[in-house]
Amino acid sequence: MTDTVDEAAPQQRERPRVVLGVTGGIAAYKACEVLRRFSESGHDVTVVPTAAALEFVGAPTWAALSGKPVAADVWSRVHEVPHVRIGQEADLVVVAPATADVLARAAHGIADDLLTNTLLTARCPVVFAPAMHTEMWEHPATRANVATLRSRGAVVLEPAVGRLTGRDTGKGRLPDPVEIYEVARQVLARPGAADLAGRRVVVSAGGTREFLDPVRFLGNRSSGLQGYALARAALSRGAEVTVVAANVALADPAGAHVVRVTSTAELREAVLREAGSADAVVMAAAPADFRPVAQSTEKIKKAADGSAPPLALEQNPDVLRELATERRAPGSVVVGFAAETGDSTGSVLDLARAKLARKGCDLLVVNDVGGGAVFGSEDNEVVILGADGSSRAVARASKTDVAHAIWDEVARRFAH
Ligand code: CTP
Repeated sequence: MTDTVDEAAPQQRERPRVVLGVTGGIAAYKACEVLRRFSESGHDVTVVPTAAALEFVGAPTWAALSGKPVAADVWSRVHEVPHVRIGQEADLVVVAPATADVLARAAHGIADDLLTNTLLTARCPVVFAPAMHTEMWEHPATRANVATLRSRGAVVLEPAVGRLTGRDTGKGRLPDPVEIYEVARQVLARPGAADLAGRRVVVSAGGTREFLDPVRFLGNRSSGLQGYALARAALSRGAEVTVVAANVALADPAGAHVVRVTSTAELREAVLREAGSADAVVMAAAPADFRPVAQSTEKIKKAADGSAPPLALEQNPDVLRELATERRAPGSVVVGFAAETGDSTGSVLDLARAKLARKGCDLLVVNDVGGGAVFGSEDNEVVILGADGSSRAVARASKTDVAHAIWDEVARRFAH
């Protein structure tokens, strides 16, 4: 039934070539969105579904969305040698969803269909986005296969936690397709940079809330965008990532373990727990510095005389300082952020150097928030200060580029 491979016009061949492998799981329909993102952003996508995947989503859907014939078996257009050519010519292979079966075949070098032939011949980066039932993901065979693939440089994303096919809930859901695309796009942009493989990193993101009563809270303007960009960047570089997310209204980064918190006390508990086995902790969150001394269990009513209720605040613990001074994991790298405006006592950088020393962290990412522009913005402009005296300015760039600059600095410290 299938026609094969690359009919692209020469000018299309200038576009990065992505192979989207789709395997036989109910989540195969979500790969349509991954495909659409790649196609619309100018990539030349060849879809290679397995026979089982075609039971879930048919070839016409893949052909229509990719604008190309679907490549599904090794016996069509044999003279074009598709079983080696598709892999050889690829700039990136993404397998989404990846079943336990394809992980096993890939790990063992079995080449019994076009997709596994492609995986054996590809020399480009490979991203697997697994989806399966929790028992299959946790089975020692799958654990070993995932470890093998990662040790060879493949990025194997952790599945998301949530509703699975049928009534089950647990780990095994395919991550958000747009997020798979985001991570895969970054892998493609930085081939050969799986320099965080085998590393476990923790990123805090968002802003904490301190409740005055059941409906009112003290909060701040942190959107979580920079923290989530850090998580995606680390995932694309092969790290195992835990995000401690404080009130973030963004889709979970594909492959990240997300711990949700509300208050600074909850954030502290989660970050300190996760830091115990982390190679790096990046405190991109904005924890509220103060909390009400007492939280009313009932909604505070307006007084008839027009007076405001008393608002007594106390200081929250400084999580970054605690992390940095009482290292949970010896040799770990601790990164803080500083949002500064400068004042009569010193410039933004003067205050930041003093903060770096006070907090005791290894790196401090300094934002000049004089104009308030960074909050909720897609861009950022920072200086990364090191406790070793280093200083790296990152001119206005996307939060993704800023994230990679931060991981570059962290990775350099791992190397020592
Ligand atoms: N931070 C933290 N715990 C807090 C407050 C802040 O871990 N209770 C972390 C932030 O995640 C960030 C860094 O500390 O990485 C800098 O936060 P900032 O609010 O700028 O520093 P402060 O300690 O509040 O310094 P100051 O108010 O003196 O400027």
